[in-house]
Amino acid sequence: MAESTVDIKRGLEGVIFTETLLSAIDGNAGQLSYCGYDINDLAAGASYEETAFLLWYQRLPAENELEMLSDWLRANRRLPKVVWGIMHSLPEQATPMEALRTIASTLSMFDRSCVHEIEGGSSLCRAVSLTAKLPTIIASFDRLRRDRPPIEPRTDLGHAANLLYMLSGQEPDAAAADALETYFVLLADHGMNASTFSARVTASTLGDVFSSVVTALGTLKGPLHGGASQRSMEQLLEIGSPDKVDEWFDQRIAAKQRIFGFGHRVYKTEDPRATILRELSRQVAERSGNTQWFDISSRLEERVLSHPYFQERRIYANVDFYTGPLLYALDIPLDLFIPMFATARVAGWTAHLLEQQKNNRLIRPRAYYAGPRDRTWNEIVGREPLVEAQPDAHCVAGRPANCPAALEVPPRF
Ligand code: ACO
Repeated sequence: MAESTVDIKRGLEGVIFTETLLSAIDGNAGQLSYCGYDINDLAAGASYEETAFLLWYQRLPAENELEMLSDWLRANRRLPKVVWGIMHSLPEQATPMEALRTIASTLSMFDRSCVHEIEGGSSLCRAVSLTAKLPTIIASFDRLRRDRPPIEPRTDLGHAANLLYMLSGQEPDAAAADALETYFVLLADHGMNASTFSARVTASTLGDVFSSVVTALGTLKGPLHGGASQRSMEQLLEIGSPDKVDEWFDQRIAAKQRIFGFGHRVYKTEDPRATILRELSRQVAERSGNTQWFDISSRLEERVLSHPYFQERRIYANVDFYTGPLLYALDIPLDLFIPMFATARVAGWTAHLLEQQKNNRLIRPRAYYAGPRDRTWNEIVGREPLVEAQPDAHCVAGRPANCPAALEVPPRF
């Protein structure tokens, strides 16, 4: 195929590879719905458990059905004993996201029934188990690294309230629990975002639920995706006060650096989740008596929206922008922001996995080969080196100082 005839969709932009019954996004109108229910209605009225039910079964639960699912989740919150030993042995420098990915992966080894899940139809069990356990992993790891004993999950608290309780040891007030719950509902699913796509790719190989979720956790962590939640709060901390926003913004623009929490592949208007999170973030900040971070966000958003660079590119606040001041006001440590995102999104990842399993076809796109062709292989003796020989150089993992730097640059053709 000649290069001129190949239509390469970089980043798979605009490519539709499957149907879904889960979420619908209108990027121009700024609308999002789950299974036909508007995100504004769900955020205002639905619990996270109800949202998970909706995504897993594509319908709203009746009262007794919601109670059954909530019981099922509560019964799965505890971690297997042996996992504690592994958690204790994680290195000091492990980040919460690394710990979450590692422990989520470890869990599969204590749940052998997942091996034959396609035949056994037990994927939903695994989805429930992981959704219930992610908060316990996050809270326990956070306490252990602070030399505090982990706190057992409570079975009388909802998903969000229990997570706040396991982090602090204090039962959260209703407003804080509700705010986190709304955040979880808003983040539960979002079409074919990068982490969901990666979960579906793994599911399409008939991989198990744990493998799909671990794949998705790895994808979520990057700063262009879920990692932007942490980065956008780091920006606010770097700015420090509302009167410093202008200077920071001008420098950032001059340096041609991206502003985290803005822009979206699909939304070319305001992300509807950002609209809700902005208001929620304002309410939580006002209730806490400290509006500093919310005020910086508002001023920064004003500057972005009024700048021609962003206007021309139709760049608006995305979901990660107001997540920062919201979670910060809820006393959630900065490096738990991505794990919080994962806690919400796991319902969506697993719902997509179940959907993929129902009508599976291996996901296997192609790449256009753009390298040289018809080269002649020759014996190693006599090949021209790109790197000058250095008698004392030894290159082993970790690159000691005497390893030729040239070996680290990508090969040139
Ligand atoms: N700040 C500055 N410039 C931006 C930003 C931003 N946040 N976002 C996009 N742009 C610019 C790009 O530099 C590019 O400019 P150019 O046309 O002069 O080259 C143009 O807008 C298009 O950018 P792309 O990266 O090609 O657009 P894409 O649709 O791939 O971008 C993305 C989506 C990756 C999210 C981007 O907007 C971005 O990097 N945002 C910052 C990171 C972020 O907030 N990510 C979270 C997204 S929401 C989520 O995943 C939960």
